[in-house]
Amino acid sequence: MSAKCSSAAVATMQPLRIAILVAMASNRVIGQKNALPWHLPADLKHFKALTMGHGIIMGRKTYESIGKPLPGRLNIVITRQKDYHVNGAIVVHSIDEAVQVCRNEKKISGEGFIIGGAELYQQTLSLCHRMYITEIQRCFDGDTYFPEFDEQEWVETACEKHSSTHNGNELAYHFVVLDRKAG
Ligand SMILES: NC(=O)c1ccc[n+]([C@@H]2O[C@H](COP(=O)([O-])OP(=O)(O)OC[C@H]3O[C@@H](n4cnc5c(N)ncnc54)[C@H](OP(=O)(O)O)[C@@H]3O)[C@@H](O)[C@H]2O)c1
Repeated sequence: MSAKCSSAAVATMQPLRIAILVAMASNRVIGQKNALPWHLPADLKHFKALTMGHGIIMGRKTYESIGKPLPGRLNIVITRQKDYHVNGAIVVHSIDEAVQVCRNEKKISGEGFIIGGAELYQQTLSLCHRMYITEIQRCFDGDTYFPEFDEQEWVETACEKHSSTHNGNELAYHFVVLDRKAG
C-alpha cells in the first residue's frame, strides 16, 4: 500500500472499463465475520457517489453481507449456485459473464465496479484498469484481506486525506486512486 500521495485529474473512460473499489486497513483487512470491521459513514458516501448509476459486481458473500440490492445501480451477483436468485439483481456464474452483462447494459457507461469481496478482487485484479482504495490508516482485526499486488504496475493518480471520529478516536483514511501503468 502506498503511503505517498499525489494529485491528478480523474478522467472518465470510454468504453466501459472495470475498476476495483475497496476500503482496506493498513494490515490489508477488508472484512470480519462477513461484515465491514469499521463504521465509516464518509466512506459509504464515497462508495455511493462513485457507484451511483453504474454497474456493481460482487461475490455472493458480499451481496449477503449487504443484504439487498443497492438502489440506482445495476447489481450483479456472482455465484456458482445455479438456483440462486435475487429480486432486483442479475445473478451470473462467472467473472466473464458479469463483465459482459455490465458492458452490454446500455444504461451503464464509463466504469463498472468490482465491489468485493476478497475472492472477487483476487480474480479481477488483472482485468482492472483502476483501483479506488480507501486506505484506512490503522490495523483492524479481521478474517478477510485484500490480495497482494505488484505496486510497480500501478501509479497513484489521486489522494484525498480525511479523518473521522471512530468509536471515540480519530481515524485517518485516504481516498486513493491507482491507475494501471501503460504498457
Ligand atoms: N472493505 C471492503 O471494501 C469490502 C468490500 C466487499 C466485501 N468486503 C468483505 O469481504 C468479505 C467477503 O469476501 P469473500 O472473499 O469471503 O467473499 P466474496 O468474494 O464476496 O464472495 C465469494 C463467493 O462468490 C462466488 N464466486 C467467487 N468467484 C466466483 C467465480 N469465479 N464464479 C462463480 N462464483 C464465484 C462464490 O459464491 P457461492 O459460494 O455462492 O458459489 C463464492 O463463495 C466480507 O467480510 C465483506 O464484508 C469488504
